[in-house]
Amino acid sequence: MSYPEDLRALVDRELQRLRFPAPQPTAGLEEAMRYSLLGGGKRVRPVLTLATARSLNAEPEDFLPVASAVELIHTYSLIHDDLPAMDDDELRRGQPTSHVKFGEDVAILAGDGLFAEAVRLFCEQPGEPAQVLAALRELSAATGVDGMVGGQYVDVAVAERDAEGLRTLHTLKTGRLIAASVGIVLTLNGLSEPETIPFRRFASELGVLFQIVDDILDVTGSDEQLGKTHGSDERHGKLTYVSLFSLERARELAAESHAKAIAALADAGGDTGDLRRIADYIFTRDE
Ligand code: IPE
Ligand code: IPE
Ligand code: MG
Ligand code: MG
Ligand code: MG
Repeated sequence: MSYPEDLRALVDRELQRLRFPAPQPTAGLEEAMRYSLLGGGKRVRPVLTLATARSLNAEPEDFLPVASAVELIHTYSLIHDDLPAMDDDELRRGQPTSHVKFGEDVAILAGDGLFAEAVRLFCEQPGEPAQVLAALRELSAATGVDGMVGGQYVDVAVAERDAEGLRTLHTLKTGRLIAASVGIVLTLNGLSEPETIPFRRFASELGVLFQIVDDILDVTGSDEQLGKTHGSDERHGKLTYVSLFSLERARELAAESHAKAIAALADAGGDTGDLRRIADYIFTRDE
C-alpha cells in the first residue's frame, strides 16, 4: 500500500498554478509566499481533503480550492513556527527557512499573506453558499484559538507536564487542522451528523498520530531525510511524546493511535482505501 501519489500530483499542479498578483511593489512578497509553498512538502492535509472527496464518490478535482486553502494555512504555520522567536529553525522542506532567505519581516508577512489568500481561495469554492460558509467556519476554528494557533501558544507558553496536557497540545497544534482537512469535505457534501462520525473519529485520531510521529522523527530522523532541522524539540526543551515517555513508549502509542484510526474508518461507508493508505503512510513515514 502506498501514499496516493495521484492526489499529491493534483495538489502540486494546482499550487504551482496559484498566483498572488498585485501591483508591482509586492512582487517580492509573492516570491516569498511561493518559495515556502512550492518548496516540497508531503501535502498530507490537501491529499486528505481530496481522498475524503473520493471516499464520498465525489470528484477530487472539484475540491482543489479548499484543499489548496488548507495547504496555504499549513505553510503559513510552518513559516511562523520556524521564526527565531518560535522554534528558531533554519531548514524547512529541504531549503533555508523563509526568514533566513528573506529576513524576519518578510517571513512574517509571507505567513500573513498565505493565511489571507487561503481565506480568499476558500470563498471561491463552488458549492451551496451555506455549506461553503459552514466549512470555512470549520477551517477557521481549526486554525484559531481552539486549534493550531492555540496549540502553538500552549507549546511556547504553558508548562504542561502530564500526558493529558500533551494530548491536548497535540490535538490543538496539529490535530485540529488535520481533522478539518477531512471535515470540510463532509460539510461541503452536506453529510448528516451520524454519517460524519466515523470520518471525524478517524481524522482526529490521525491528527494526534501525525504529531506523535513528528515528535519521534525529531529524535530519530536526519536533516536530509526530514528536510528540516532534527533535534529542534530537545534543543528547546519541548514537551513531546518522546520527552514525556520514551522513544519506545512513543512508538507503542503511535501504533495504538494508528489502530484506533483504522478501526474508526471501518465504520465509514464508501471506498476509504486512500484514507487507509494515508493513515499507513503517516504511521510508517520517515520523511
Ligand atoms: C510539519 O508538518 C509540522 C507539523 C504539524 C508536525 P508536515 O510534516 O506535514 O510538513 P510538510 O508539509 O510535509 O513540510
Ligand atoms: C509545529 O510543530 C506545528 C505547527 C503548527 C506548525 P513542530 O514545531 O513540532 O513542527 P516542526 O517539527 O518544526 O515541523
Ligand atoms: Mg514548533
Ligand atoms: Mg518547529
Ligand atoms: Mg516537530
